[in-house]
Amino acid sequence: MRTVLSNKETQQLQHIAIIMDGNGRWAAKRGMPRSFGHKKGAERVKEVVQAAGELGVKYLTLYAFSTENWQRSPDEVNDLMDLLRQYLKSELSELQKNGVRIVFIGEREMLPADIRSSMRRLEDDTKNNAKMTVCIALSYGSRQEILQAVRKIATLAKRGDIKPEEIDDKMFSDMLYTQEIPDPDLVIRTSGEQRLSNYLLWQVAYAEFYFSEVLWPDFDRAELEKIIENFNKRERRYGKA
Ligand code: IPE
Ligand code: IPE
Ligand code: MG
Repeated sequence: MRTVLSNKETQQLQHIAIIMDGNGRWAAKRGMPRSFGHKKGAERVKEVVQAAGELGVKYLTLYAFSTENWQRSPDEVNDLMDLLRQYLKSELSELQKNGVRIVFIGEREMLPADIRSSMRRLEDDTKNNAKMTVCIALSYGSRQEILQAVRKIATLAKRGDIKPEEIDDKMFSDMLYTQEIPDPDLVIRTSGEQRLSNYLLWQVAYAEFYFSEVLWPDFDRAELEKIIENFNKRERRYGKA
């Protein structure tokens, strides 16, 4: 099997975060409803998870549904929730076979109860898988994530459990949904849009960015390999000369 990561680079590229965008436009180009694009987009997830795992990526975070996406039409939201239901039911055996641990980040309270319990079950059933962690951002918004962390910290300070001067990077990171996941090294957004759309604002402080023109339903292993090769040529400086 071909791998594009050398040992040195494997250490460096531990975590890829993807904004899976362009399903609607992909469908519109074919004269099809947006739901068709979402269905094709969901089908790409499996291939990309597998490819990333084979390429040595340890953490893959996928933006599946933002807090702002709740504002879409009820029909579209329902279609997306139905797809999610199917995905949560059908993927377990594949994930187990490939040693993938699943975790979810986002505002779970907003999701339907049956989906929440399927999420809990999938997290529980895969929690001992060690090859790779796939983190799915669902009903996720980074500002909301940061605000709930601020509220927790303010409560602790008000109770006298912590002192304001004790609040540091580490404490703050530990209050985020992503607490046990290292920061992304590389953020990929598909469909040519160049914005973050409320994704991992704190966590991407030193991430590299790659904006791919490919619409998500066309994204594949070859495109991922091309992006990783591009990442490997970059020099990350972290402010040093
Ligand atoms: C990404 O595709 C999927 C979600 C945001 C849920 P879009 O639905 O945003 O597709 P475009 O951007 O309209 O093409
Ligand atoms: C971001 O895509 C969210 C996901 C891919 C799940 P959007 O399509 O919702 O973002 P905007 O509206 O173009 O910024
Ligand atoms: Mg979009």
